[in-house]
Amino acid sequence: MERSLVLVKPDGVQRGLIGEVIARFERRGLRLVAAKFMQVSLELAKQHYAEHEGKPFYDGLIAYITSAPVMAMVWEGPNAVAAIRQTVGSTKPVESAPGTIRHDFALEVGRNLIHASDKPETGIREMGLWFKADELVEWKREVDRWVFEG
Ligand code: RTP
Ligand code: MG
Repeated sequence: MERSLVLVKPDGVQRGLIGEVIARFERRGLRLVAAKFMQVSLELAKQHYAEHEGKPFYDGLIAYITSAPVMAMVWEGPNAVAAIRQTVGSTKPVESAPGTIRHDFALEVGRNLIHASDKPETGIREMGLWFKADELVEWKREVDRWVFEG
């Protein structure tokens, strides 16, 4: 079962969209593994966005993600990374497909509401960065056999 880190970024939290985001992933059939409402430290922000260090938008990105609390979550399911990226939409909200979260609620790349892991390996790395092993909940739902084929 694949896992992805999802962050409702500070703009999503401030705008009261935590529930909207969770509802969309629940409806899709994904299973929640972990959730934590938290203020992001500068250290964690730098680790999380290490791949973007040196890019023109890096300083603004670090300021953005540390500007107010975020809702950090791990979601799992078959092909969870691709499924979640699809539900989230393209990085630039004006290029994201109608019906995606970024299309429906955002306008600017620097206020694009949500983070989702971009590859399965990234999901594993990011999960380790944001959550301790004992914060990840292994569980089954009665409905799983109606959502997961295998
Ligand atoms: P994320 O990591 O947040 O899920 O977003 P992403 O994969 O769709 O985009 P990524 O390329 O990883 O960029 C991370 C975040 O940096 C900001 N960004 N700004 N001004 C710009 O050109 C620019 N490009 C990226 C966005 O907040 C993006 O989500
Ligand atoms: Mg990314």
